[in-house]
Amino acid sequence: MTVQGGEDHLAWIELQLPLGLPGSGRQRYAAAMHLYRRGLLSADILEAYRVCSPKDWEDPDLLLAARRIRPVEKVAVPADRAIARLIEEIDRYLSGFSGVGVAEVRGRIARWSGGGVRPKPGKGNPVVDANLGPALSALEQTHPALADAISVASPHLSWITYGEYPPDEIGAAFLSGHAFASLIGGGAPIHAAEFDLGLFIIAPDVLYRDHAHPAPELYAPLTGPHGWRFGPETPLVIKPAHVPVWNRPHAPHMTKVGPVPFLCIFGWTQDVDLPAYVLPARDWAGLESLKIGERDGS
Ligand SMILES: [Fe+2]
Repeated sequence: MTVQGGEDHLAWIELQLPLGLPGSGRQRYAAAMHLYRRGLLSADILEAYRVCSPKDWEDPDLLLAARRIRPVEKVAVPADRAIARLIEEIDRYLSGFSGVGVAEVRGRIARWSGGGVRPKPGKGNPVVDANLGPALSALEQTHPALADAISVASPHLSWITYGEYPPDEIGAAFLSGHAFASLIGGGAPIHAAEFDLGLFIIAPDVLYRDHAHPAPELYAPLTGPHGWRFGPETPLVIKPAHVPVWNRPHAPHMTKVGPVPFLCIFGWTQDVDLPAYVLPARDWAGLESLKIGERDGS
């Protein structure tokens, strides 16, 4: 397939919008119509997209296969578009929640996301390589469009395993078992001041020990269950996926990852350059060996 011109390329990309995305059936059909009129798509294929257009979950490729028509080849989504779509999906996801933290983060997304996207892909990250797939397999059961947007954008992001915590304070398992990628912020693909939005992932069973930071922080966990507490040596609370957590400045918090990798959206809304600090507790050893949640063989 030869890609000709910007509009044609966008149409090829829209043709492969994820199934289930609200309005995607009609968008796919509109893209197919554009390509048909440009002489780039056959009437048979256009017809399949028309038939599937009223239902966002209807897969034109399955209909084409049933009619023994070769489906459309996939095209690579450009990095800037992949990142912009991920931010749109994150905002759409957050719009399903209320609360001061969600409103603050969404307000800053609206303020900054109009800027240009300058992808800054990093090297591969072993934590992401090992854990993003299982996390997205869980997420796509309920949020296929968001899972797809993360999957498509992830290779274009700079995933960082943060090494600034003192290793003896934060623990070896966390130090080598987490990664984050900024989407909006200083040095991120979309520039912002006093705001940082991104994705955060931690390997299964890892304890992110009690800590705090000056930045107010929204966590929107996309997987679960995971354990939480909001003060050293207070009881662990188990929260399922899709229950956001808002940490006010300097509020203590701790996360004990369950059987599925912890994948979350994070948003810091001020003081983003001031470092986090670990808060001592005497019960970390027990929490680090704890296994929470149901799992095979347990
Ligand atoms: Fe935090």
